[in-house]
Amino acid sequence: MSSKIIENAELFIANTYKRFPVVFTKGSECTLWDSEGNSYIDFVSGIAVCNLGHAHPKIAKALCEQAKSLLHVSNLYYTVPQVELASWLVKNSFADKVFFCNSGAEANEAAIKLARKYAKEKMDGKFKIVAMDNSFHGRTMATLSATGQEKIKIGFDPVLEGFDFAPFNDIEAIRKKIGPATCAVLVEPIQGEGGVKCPDEKYFKALRKICDKIGILLIFDEIQTGMGRTGKLFAYEHYGVEPDIMTLAKALGNGLPIGAMLAKESVAQAFGHGSHASTFGGTPIVTAASLSVAEIFEKDNIVEACRETGEYFKEKLLHLKQKKETIIDVRGKGLLLGMKLGIEGEPIVKECMEKGFLINCVQGNILRFIPPLIIKMDEIDALIKCLDKIL
Ligand SMILES: Cc1ncc(COP(=O)(O)O)c(C=O)c1O
Repeated sequence: MSSKIIENAELFIANTYKRFPVVFTKGSECTLWDSEGNSYIDFVSGIAVCNLGHAHPKIAKALCEQAKSLLHVSNLYYTVPQVELASWLVKNSFADKVFFCNSGAEANEAAIKLARKYAKEKMDGKFKIVAMDNSFHGRTMATLSATGQEKIKIGFDPVLEGFDFAPFNDIEAIRKKIGPATCAVLVEPIQGEGGVKCPDEKYFKALRKICDKIGILLIFDEIQTGMGRTGKLFAYEHYGVEPDIMTLAKALGNGLPIGAMLAKESVAQAFGHGSHASTFGGTPIVTAASLSVAEIFEKDNIVEACRETGEYFKEKLLHLKQKKETIIDVRGKGLLLGMKLGIEGEPIVKECMEKGFLINCVQGNILRFIPPLIIKMDEIDALIKCLDKIL
């Protein structure tokens, strides 16, 4: 069956992804099954999406119940799950207001628009945003313009005006980049796509201080780091600072397409009726799923579990590093972990897959491990054993 599906995929689906020759048909917790019945332990989670694993019965139940009562109405009206989800996000973060959309790129679009709108009103029309080299913020025109990786922009010139770039984790470089037209700094707490790069502990405090002194906004893209991934509900909590705007997507819906832009009241008020919109943003079916995600996080202490398992996993990787010269670095927080190799990563990813483990490689030689946060120690042990053999 899989060869026919793959043949048709090549015929009918736009060629934007280089895919592995496997067709997944089923999942449960941290395991996926392909159409041939082979099983795989998932250390990718749909790229940091399925933090609660696959086919979670409580999310499935919430979806079924919501689908039977109300799938969608326009944002011209109020709905219960959207309001409850917004209130949960506000209660559990620095923010006062939430704008819902459908993806990470859209959440960042909203953040860029809000920063510009706020600056137009409160900062004499400043409009520039300083983003980071090596960052990733999405594939729409504004978000690829904000992304600090040239390969993502090839063929799409001219990109949107108004983005400057500074090296990540370099306070002096940012200070120099902030000019008279700068209204905000946009940064990921940990650069995921950029190679699981963590800044120094004091970096964000210094960055917050600069933004406050100059009177510009600090925007955190927590699309990959949010929802417990790093061992805190949101990664900014590690650094003792709060942003003015934060974007979420990925794990917020555990697989349902949802994005959110959260902001402090003073900033959020720059958006009024008609400033921004999304037909599907915060629609009942998706927000009902996200609400059940939030409930599971609280009932099952998911963030604490991630912290513990993340520490265990990192220790195992560091131990492996002592044994293997090919491993140059082990880094990351919680269950967003990276292992830099002195060799190409892609062949290792393929071999792991043949042996029943899904892992992922970024920037050519950095293996990234982003399993569901419910991953078990024995599943981690099994992957470590496999990597030990392969390397
Ligand atoms: C930090 C970050 N921002 C934005 C995005 C874009 O999200 P989406 O693919 O949902 O548009 C991603 C996706 O990988 C991401 O990791």
